[in-house]
Amino acid sequence: MGGRPGDGWSAPKASEPAGFLKAGPNSWHLCQPPCLTQFIVRKNILMRVVSGIQPTGKPHLGNYLGAIVNYVKLQDEAAEAGGECLIFLADLHAISMPHNPAELHAATLEMVATLVACGVDPAKTILFNQAQVPAHAELQWLLNGTARMGWLNRMTQFKDKSGKNREGASIALFTYPVLQAADVLLYQATHVPVGDDQKQHLELARDIAQKFNNDFATEDAPVFTLPDPYIPPAAARIMSLRDGAAKMSKSDPSEMSRVNLIDDADTIMKKVKKAKTDPEPLPSEEAGLAGRPEAINLVSIYGALTGRDTASVLAEFGGQGFGTFKPALGEVLVETLAPISAQFRELMQDREALDAILARGAAKARERGGPTLEATYKALGLVRG
Ligand code: TRP
Repeated sequence: MGGRPGDGWSAPKASEPAGFLKAGPNSWHLCQPPCLTQFIVRKNILMRVVSGIQPTGKPHLGNYLGAIVNYVKLQDEAAEAGGECLIFLADLHAISMPHNPAELHAATLEMVATLVACGVDPAKTILFNQAQVPAHAELQWLLNGTARMGWLNRMTQFKDKSGKNREGASIALFTYPVLQAADVLLYQATHVPVGDDQKQHLELARDIAQKFNNDFATEDAPVFTLPDPYIPPAAARIMSLRDGAAKMSKSDPSEMSRVNLIDDADTIMKKVKKAKTDPEPLPSEEAGLAGRPEAINLVSIYGALTGRDTASVLAEFGGQGFGTFKPALGEVLVETLAPISAQFRELMQDREALDAILARGAAKARERGGPTLEATYKALGLVRG
């Protein structure tokens, strides 16, 4: 079967049976599609990576080391495995909380520029924003028939974000996880890189896929692939510079708690030097970090930026105080972030290029998602001309 290289999708030749090639645990098997108006064969896709990132606030070091760096790695790994990578800006998710339209607009463009500046290559990754791919919202509606109130009632993110004001929370905040399920099921995602806090939403996506397949498809012709959360082995969980127990976050009121990717060198140095620490010198062995969350955080940031493990960082800095370690960390940060912010600023000057990246990505995403959306309508018995 021929396909365009690096594409993974192709129309079958007349002699070929139409069907999805579905991944079993170790192999692929052919199954008849429940419906595909336009026959598309899903072939050799061992790895389809799909992930979203909300375009809210300024991207910071936690976003970079926790998520973006992994997108960059995965785009090559997926291509090597004959698969592909879809990364989108979850702008539709962003309207689930009170928001300012002008800020959302600006943050969306800034996030594309940031991703590209960090190494997400639009030639390798399908990079787009949800708002240009209506199939996300459409599929969400179709899945709303399958998702159960009881399932959504258990989502801890809704409880956290709605807080004491549940009656005043938006419906979008409540059904947010169904949109997230649509985001990944639309593309038959196999790997979904997410942080720990999103694992519950991925479980829900699996539950929805499973129930839909049970209710509306046959066992040998499921409509949806069950996606797996993918927590990369080296995923760094970066904590606040002011509190080693809290995640680095754009919603922290203190600017000193995070390093923004476009902070200038002086600001970065100042933030690192003022980072909270204990008075002890760094230990030479990992065991000596126990009960020292701030020290662990700074050491792991250094390790993540230099590609070294904790043991190797401690072998170099063990016995030294933060007066020595912090400037070293600041330097590594400045070195890493300077080229990123330079490219970010350049990209932000070229609005046309940013629009073109999103338009191209959205066109490809619409194409990839089309067959599954059609199969879903058909499975539900909805008449489509
Ligand atoms: N909810 C995710 C977050 O806040 C963002 C997101 C939206 C996402 N849709 C997704 C992540 C689909 C992975 C897959 O981090």
